[in-house]
Amino acid sequence: MSLPSPFPLLARAPVIPVVVIERLEHAVPLARALVEGGLPLIEVTLRTPVALEAIRAIAAEVEGAILGAGTVTEVAHVEASLEAGAAYLVSPGTTHAFAEALSEAPVPVLPGCATVSEAMALSALGFQVLKFFPAEAAGGVPFLKSIAGPLPHLRFCPTGGIGPNNVETYLALPNVVAVGGSWVVPADAIRAGDFGKVRDLAKAASGLKRAVRF
Ligand code: 3PG
Repeated sequence: MSLPSPFPLLARAPVIPVVVIERLEHAVPLARALVEGGLPLIEVTLRTPVALEAIRAIAAEVEGAILGAGTVTEVAHVEASLEAGAAYLVSPGTTHAFAEALSEAPVPVLPGCATVSEAMALSALGFQVLKFFPAEAAGGVPFLKSIAGPLPHLRFCPTGGIGPNNVETYLALPNVVAVGGSWVVPADAIRAGDFGKVRDLAKAASGLKRAVRF
């Protein structure tokens, strides 16, 4: 049986903002700014005590947000994220047992990989789009170009070290569906409540062209 496809979601925007919410009151205005800027695919990382509550608040209050849970690293995170309203899950990496658990999730998953062997193991479980993390540190654009030869059926969402200076090089690759990154949600802007800045950064990112066709 095939796994839930992430392609319809990923078709919605070329960039997934990777969000760290320190204060719950920032969640809704931040998500609104991203949606207004044209980046509805918001990944809220499970790295802070309010992350699940933030997912719940955004899912309930922000029309148009397509909310994912990121930094999903344990089986318990899967159920908790789904219960909070996450429409997709993202992991930074995968052990075999964890990948098997992710393959049973009822929503699309971007499981993390950083090597060819990890990509092959995830492909064998039926995943079609993998998070490539940490993208810049693990080989960046040359890695993605190299892996397209032996594994032409796989698509990637590289994340980690991507920003305005290199994002277009990633999106120009035919095996890159979208990229993830935190540059559109700078911690200082969030802390200062400067959601206009987030909206402007999102607008610039949402207009980026990608080579992949849906
Ligand atoms: C992360 O998980 O922190 C993401 O990969 C974001 O990385 P970035 O801050 O380098 O964009």
